[in-house]
Amino acid sequence: MDLLVVGSGFFGLTIAERAASAGRRVTVIDRRPHIGGNAYSEDDPDTGIEVHRYGAHLFHTSTPAVWEYVNRFTAFTPYVHRVYTTHRGVVYPLPISLGTINQFFQAAYTPDQARALVREQAGEFDPQRAANLEERAIGLIGRPLYEAFIRDYTAKQWQTDPKDLPAEVISRLPVRYSYDNRYFNDTWEGLPVDGYTAWLERMADHPRIEVRLETDFFDRTQPLHKQAVVGQVPVVYTGPLDRYFDEAEGELSWRTLDFARDVLETGDFQGTSVMNYADADVPYTRIHEFRHFHPERADRYPRDRTVIVREYSRFATREDEPYYPVAAPADRARVLAYRERASLEPDVHFGGRLGTYQYLDMHMAIGSALSMWQNRLA
Ligand code: FDA
Repeated sequence: MDLLVVGSGFFGLTIAERAASAGRRVTVIDRRPHIGGNAYSEDDPDTGIEVHRYGAHLFHTSTPAVWEYVNRFTAFTPYVHRVYTTHRGVVYPLPISLGTINQFFQAAYTPDQARALVREQAGEFDPQRAANLEERAIGLIGRPLYEAFIRDYTAKQWQTDPKDLPAEVISRLPVRYSYDNRYFNDTWEGLPVDGYTAWLERMADHPRIEVRLETDFFDRTQPLHKQAVVGQVPVVYTGPLDRYFDEAEGELSWRTLDFARDVLETGDFQGTSVMNYADADVPYTRIHEFRHFHPERADRYPRDRTVIVREYSRFATREDEPYYPVAAPADRARVLAYRERASLEPDVHFGGRLGTYQYLDMHMAIGSALSMWQNRLA
């Protein structure tokens, strides 16, 4: 073995694939019983509809090198992501756009008129001097839109009143003064034609890559544990940064998600893939209806049944899957201390969303793995 990769998410698999293609023998370990990290998907046992087990994953990128690289392993469907939100029993398009504004204010504003209205309503606070998230949001988009679309949704995401959240949680709240409601602005987007797991398996399918599942880097009863390997062979570590150092600087905090799955006796529950719920009286933040991610599979998916997943957000405990970094001031100080320790580790390269304590979209995880390979490992 020339390289040990801890974690088989997109970061780890990109490193493993590049290294194997360059002639190195790579072992990838993952503590889960499947490869792919959070991008893993599987066919729902009751309906056969592909479900993303760790939350909906939409691929998008504007980086030519990443787009070229991912197309070696999968083709992409022409799926274009759009999100809607329900507020007081009415459905609006997101992100907030001219369509949202005109529907909300029951008006026919032109782009200039809508811009002037939002500017006037936002005058209540200076976003640069905001004392908390609520003041900053009002200073960016005005109170009426904030109270309808941001306040309760944010409170559900953080289990915290936005008045008690730091202003830094948001830097921008983009408003589009057009009817364009494509969710992503990237050059390329789409979903893997044969599903995420087929894509991830093709990345790992190389004679010089060995994958060992249900193998925890910190489990001293398995031969490739930390104490046995570090210093003997280069390691790319994509597990949690604090866990590597036994939380010596304190635990980094994360938000997690709970998913509640339901199979319904209808061919179409909500007419779209993602519906947000903006109001406080609905406890979940959104509902995913997975069949809508693949309209091209209509003839394969059942016509009279559908699978939906309600998503709930909360702070993670040690036992939960870490999903989104909280990045409170205490976390930021700890991350700096951990990075300092990481820089002193011989031959251990920290990467990925857990290893760097950063939210990374898939194209960012793949792009940063390609850079790490080229700049530090090749
Ligand atoms: P990832 O978490 O995927 O993989 C890390 C792996 O390390 C895991 O498999 C884990 O089991 C393993 N591991 C950890 N500790 C270990 C140990 N001690 N020993 C062995 N293995 C260990 N992106 C996007 O582009 N579009 C989208 O729509 C979404 N949607 C989305 C929704 C939600 C809810 C989340 C949380 C994230 C997204 N993402 C996304 C982001 C996407 O999930 C992210 O880019 C990739 O997971 C990053 O891949 P990594 O390899 O960095 O981590």
